Amino acid sequence: MTKRRIVVLGSTGSIGTQTLDVVRQHGDQLEIVGLAVHGRVDELLSQAREFGVCHLAVGDPTLADDPRCDEGRTLVREMATASGADDASFGVGPEAVAALATLPEADVVVNALVGAAGLRASYDTLAAGKVLALANKESLVVGGDLIMPLAARVDAERRAAGLAPATGPAGALMPIDSEHGAIYQCLLGENVREVSKLWVTASGGPFRGRTRDELVGITPAQALAHPTWNMGAKISIDSSTLMNKGLEVIEAHHLFAMDYDKIEVVVQPQSAIHSMVEFTDGSVKAHLGTTDMRIPIQFALSYPDRWEAPVAPLDFRTLGTLEFAAPDTDTFRCLALARHAGSVGGTLPAVMNAANEVAVAAFLAEQIAYLDIAACVEAAMDAHEREGVQVVESLDQLEAVDRWARAFARSWCAA
Ligand SMILES: NC(=O)c1ccc[n+]([C@@H]2O[C@H](COP(=O)([O-])OP(=O)(O)OC[C@H]3O[C@@H](n4cnc5c(N)ncnc54)[C@H](OP(=O)(O)O)[C@@H]3O)[C@@H](O)[C@H]2O)c1
Repeated sequence: MTKRRIVVLGSTGSIGTQTLDVVRQHGDQLEIVGLAVHGRVDELLSQAREFGVCHLAVGDPTLADDPRCDEGRTLVREMATASGADDASFGVGPEAVAALATLPEADVVVNALVGAAGLRASYDTLAAGKVLALANKESLVVGGDLIMPLAARVDAERRAAGLAPATGPAGALMPIDSEHGAIYQCLLGENVREVSKLWVTASGGPFRGRTRDELVGITPAQALAHPTWNMGAKISIDSSTLMNKGLEVIEAHHLFAMDYDKIEVVVQPQSAIHSMVEFTDGSVKAHLGTTDMRIPIQFALSYPDRWEAPVAPLDFRTLGTLEFAAPDTDTFRCLALARHAGSVGGTLPAVMNAANEVAVAAFLAEQIAYLDIAACVEAAMDAHEREGVQVVESLDQLEAVDRWARAFARSWCAA
């Protein structure tokens, strides 16, 4: 059987390391051909040794002369020689990370980078005709208008080449986000025209049930402690503000071509239901499972097949109660802001996302207060709307808008 050859961008992160776990379990089906990180070079090299990977990239350009990078250059050359591989590469800087997305020997790129930095890699992956397994939701939030037509093109190419499954989506863009993986699976075998609503579930984060007054003195450590998922810092803060759910609403809009009035968020504190789809006859399909990201990561890599997973299955006898509640968008303003950004569309989600990235970093560095995150995002969005939201036309335009929003948010945080 031919193995799927995958590149993992962000291999030292929460999603990246869990992706490597999936590959450990299914080495007969999957092979890693490229790995990229931002700055954790030691971990990158030990991953490269374990999986015999000859194409590596380090995103942080300041590390170009770091001795560990020299060690990496030697390592990939030696491994290529030992394995008889045609070539090897060790690049430093954002271009080197993006270049791995178009590596000729790769079939699938797992994009587990954080933030809008992942947009170009998503775009390049699909432009190169490869399958994109997407954790980096910010790519779709910012550039969904560019990414989805590309994904449709790759789907068509996969069908024409006989690579698509006999029924269901052709699989060019596989979501890794558990909610979107759940919706994807609920939609298999269904007619999307018969969908009346997508229910995106939310845990509610660590501050569920609190009032605005109770959020005034929140510290980074408190906000990082997520009740059900163990994730990277940025998404943990986004989960606590409900910005993560806002990003996911926009992601769902693009992935499933669904109008915003058909996408609803419901708080499901146990995180047992990963999302639901309601159909025109009132039937609802829900996707349940253990809260372990290796399951959606694996499905994104195994589709259309299912493989065994080393996770404890859900035991309904011990699950207890499933609770549901409406999200409190007055207290958690970010969800309402994201819905507004998505509904207006164009370049507004890019501004919202960039301002949020800056504000979250400033909060983590204890430069602004917790409630300032939403205030900063709102100020940037207001300013952009006053100047005029643009129709999305190109990556360069989105990157310029992103730079503007970051500069705005930085001066807002410093004021
Ligand atoms: N964690 C989850 O459970 C989860 C669930 C659903 C969706 N997601 C999404 O998945 C993405 C990754 O989240 P995460 O929690 O895995 O993040 P994370 O733990 O912070 O890991 C981020 C990874 O990306 C690398 N990286 C960051 N910026 C980079 C850059 N500019 N160039 C190259 N590499 C870069 C980091 O390298 P270094 O280690 O060297 O810094 C690290 O390997 C996010 O978009 C998040 O919203 C995550």
